[in-house]
Amino acid sequence: MAKTHTDSYTGTAKWLHWGMAAIWIASWCIGILATHWRDELNPGHGLTILHKALASTLLFLIVVRVAWRLSHPAPALPASMSPMMRRGAKVGHILLYAVALIALPLSGWYWSSVADKPIMLLGLYQLPPIVAPNETLYDLAKWIHTLMAWFCGALVGGHLLIALKHHFIDKDEILAGILPTRNR
Ligand code: HEM
Ligand code: HEM
Repeated sequence: MAKTHTDSYTGTAKWLHWGMAAIWIASWCIGILATHWRDELNPGHGLTILHKALASTLLFLIVVRVAWRLSHPAPALPASMSPMMRRGAKVGHILLYAVALIALPLSGWYWSSVADKPIMLLGLYQLPPIVAPNETLYDLAKWIHTLMAWFCGALVGGHLLIALKHHFIDKDEILAGILPTRNR
């Protein structure tokens, strides 16, 4: 099938972007509240359970998203963008897919597996462990997930700021191309 550039993301791509963005941001905030306000807000691990129930849905949605993206090209970038900015956008998006939406949830799954703790997907279905429980790997798994979570927090923060810069400073059509009600 020939792939041509379109003016705007498809409706499905927009739903997947904003739905997963909402789940991602909620999971990130709940993860922070669960760990840094443990005594005040998370004494019975309710927030930890909610964090895992919500964030684990990303592991399944990403399969649909990548399949959709591979068969439906993204809109062309504006001609005003320099080759360096185009390359930067590409690398940034690849990092968002590979690290924020795939490696980070996988690292959480890994951590819960070595800790021998269940992950209830949406509170309905228990994910099987991806590795055998192993107490000696607990600290390493925790460190990987925490470090990656903070790196991705910065990555998503940068992504948001760049989107706003395109809209309010460069005044181009990048943000309009992914907003629900608008086309480029
Ligand atoms: C299968 C998916 C995931 C599992 C099983 C998981 C598991 C966990 C667990 C067990 C904690 C510790 C909570 C506590 O100590 O009470 C945690 C912390 C955290 N998680 Fe996840 N997580 C997953 C996905 C994600 C995703 C997608 C994000 C980003 C949106 C994320 C961001 C965080 C953050 C920011 C923390 C707090 C880190 C800190 O200590 O500062 N996690 N996660
Ligand atoms: C915080 C609010 C957000 C805003 C304002 C925003 C804005 C945008 C915009 C304007 C684009 C289109 C870029 C283009 O046309 O080249 C885009 C694409 C993208 N966004 Fe976001 N985004 C947000 C949150 C997120 C989050 C939380 C994630 C994932 C963790 C994410 C992942 C992506 C990815 C992977 C793409 C590339 C889509 C593709 O072309 O395949 N975004 N975003």
